[in-house]
Amino acid sequence: MEESSGARCKGAEHECTYERLESNVRSYCRSFPFEIRSAENALLTLTTGATCIDFLSGCGSLNYGHNDPDMKEALLDYISGNGIAHSLDLHTVSKRSFIETFAEKILGPRRLGYKIQFTGPTGTNAVEAALKLARKATGRSNIIAFTNGFHGVTLVSALPDGDAMGGRRQPRSGKRMGSRAGGGTGHREGKVGRCDP
Ligand SMILES: Cc1ncc(COP(=O)(O)O)c(C=O)c1O
Repeated sequence: MEESSGARCKGAEHECTYERLESNVRSYCRSFPFEIRSAENALLTLTTGATCIDFLSGCGSLNYGHNDPDMKEALLDYISGNGIAHSLDLHTVSKRSFIETFAEKILGPRRLGYKIQFTGPTGTNAVEAALKLARKATGRSNIIAFTNGFHGVTLVSALPDGDAMGGRRQPRSGKRMGSRAGGGTGHREGKVGRCDP
């Protein structure tokens, strides 16, 4: 637990709550210090009453928008029918229904013989799975990443961030492609090459 600095907070009430009680391990809210009250489709309503378009879109996970009416109805039905909320990777009726629907609607028509992997629910799980899959499929181990990106905070996902593990951000100039740049970014299964955009 980090030392609380709330006693010194001079901001609005909600800002002081985050300052006082939230860990320093946070990212986007430092650049966008507003507070969101509600969201509908592409629009966010802030606690100031202002509305804005959500171009962040959950980093691609909310491409159908916030609280889409059909999805909302299906979710409410599921909850009110006591659908299971968490089951690790156990077999459930809802998981089977998802797999069967995905195979029927997505894989079948495209003649894709893929199997489905359920990663954990976070972005960093998906990034880790992609890196591991790419290494397994190609038999190669090196990866190339742009500096100063953000891919999550697990050990593997943090490697291509550009500032992770080495402890400092890379300067924005200077290509570092294909080299082991900065301290401590090497990975036991390969190297992380970097490329400034
Ligand atoms: C581009 C990108 N990739 C991966 C992640 C990691 O997602 P999560 O925090 O759900 O692990 C984030 C999180 O903000 C992200 O912005």
